[in-house]
Amino acid sequence: MQSLIFKLSPKENKILELVANCAERLGMETYAVGGFVRDRIIGRHSKDIDFVCLGDGIILANELASQLRPIAKVNVFERFGTAMIKHQDLELEFVGARKESYSSDSRNPIVSPGTLWDDQLRRDFTINAISISLNKSNFGELIDPFNGLNDIAHKIIRTPVPPEDTFSDDPLRMMRAIRFANQLEYNIDPKTLEGIKAFKHRIKIISKERIIAELEKIMLCKKPSIGFGLLYETGLLELIFPEMVLLAGAEVQDGKGHKDNFYHTLQVLDNLCEKTDKLWLRWAAVFHDIAKPQTKKYIAGQGWTFHGHEALGAVMLPRIFKNLRLPLDHKLKYVQKLVRLHLRPIALTQEEITDSALRRLLFEAGDDLEDLLLLCEADITSKNEQKVKRFLNNYKIVREKLVELEEKDRIRNWQPPITGEMIMETFGIKPCKEVGEIKNYIRESILEGIIPNEYEAAHSLMLEKGKELGL
Ligand code: CTP
Repeated sequence: MQSLIFKLSPKENKILELVANCAERLGMETYAVGGFVRDRIIGRHSKDIDFVCLGDGIILANELASQLRPIAKVNVFERFGTAMIKHQDLELEFVGARKESYSSDSRNPIVSPGTLWDDQLRRDFTINAISISLNKSNFGELIDPFNGLNDIAHKIIRTPVPPEDTFSDDPLRMMRAIRFANQLEYNIDPKTLEGIKAFKHRIKIISKERIIAELEKIMLCKKPSIGFGLLYETGLLELIFPEMVLLAGAEVQDGKGHKDNFYHTLQVLDNLCEKTDKLWLRWAAVFHDIAKPQTKKYIAGQGWTFHGHEALGAVMLPRIFKNLRLPLDHKLKYVQKLVRLHLRPIALTQEEITDSALRRLLFEAGDDLEDLLLLCEADITSKNEQKVKRFLNNYKIVREKLVELEEKDRIRNWQPPITGEMIMETFGIKPCKEVGEIKNYIRESILEGIIPNEYEAAHSLMLEKGKELGL
């Protein structure tokens, strides 16, 4: 390789040379392109290498596959004219250079063969439009028609052609611009940013699944508030996730204002991201105050209240998940649980901490208790350092007490020692409301600490309660 601007591993070098040899044999001009080139210049890790050739990418992939040891399997995507090979931990993608455009009312591109220039022209950003020549005459040379290297040096996301062309070709690129700005900590060029604002409505032709995939890449950044801030500023957020935009703004009445819950949510999210990579815990931060607009009330003499926003938030989630095409399975249940419980630990720190309140929290949060406490700690966004210290210390005490109590009671993921079947068998009854009544009575008595969490005590209580109910 003649250029020192990018660094390749020996394995990558070998692959590029092998591809170059295959291309030479087939008489096809070939280039490594896109994210791989960008990442090697930046020094960022990536496992995909995209190749563009002037001709049929599938033929080139087959030629390479026959040269690899062991001989590789080629996955062909006829519809897109692309082929993919997995080799060791690398994913190699092959495509013929093409011109591609979308008509205004269709998601299906019109595709025709093109030159390298056509291919680079239709790429999303200048930093993604740099290629490495794999041809004998200039092997290893960087071809950078839009000065992407300069934009990398100045940390700028910019479309290679007027933004309206780039974004109408594929409106998802508006979200990609924001995602790259967030991931790489780059700025979006002002014209490109204006283009996003002007073209935001085109996002509606993009499937929700693709939108969410980009949004989740933003959520997995070190500081997702940057991406969400840009989505908000450009107007995209309102189109893709309107419930979150409703959190924005602060009303004032009788000289009293409340905090802007949009920026508060972003701060909670950033705080949490310092502690965890878990995507679904991060989603819980996004949603934790989602019902504040619906529960907001001004009470004279008291100020702004958001009573019940945690319960309503949990109730609103299935519909929001459905709209966003998020999974309606245990992940929804997990987020609902955290949203519903997110005020409970703070309530514990404000009053004297009773064993029964702690036991209830352990019982309800189960294995997600640690995640809940992380969310609660992230939820402290006060500017008053003393206050922050006090709150954090309170949570420390709650954690210690929970450890103590758990050792004593083993209540986490607990199932009461008496089941409905046992009750029916003991009293010779079929399912009826009394079974539920006895079960609840036993559970409450254990949680309240009236009887120990043991079979014998629960069994006696069952007999006692059954007698009282005339069974
Ligand atoms: N590309 C594009 N428009 C898109 C998607 C991709 O122009 N909507 C081009 C870009 O040149 C990009 C390349 O295709 O670099 C590969 O796309 P992809 O693998 O999706 O993105 P990467 O840039 O590799 O980044 P990441 O893997 O982080 O998504």
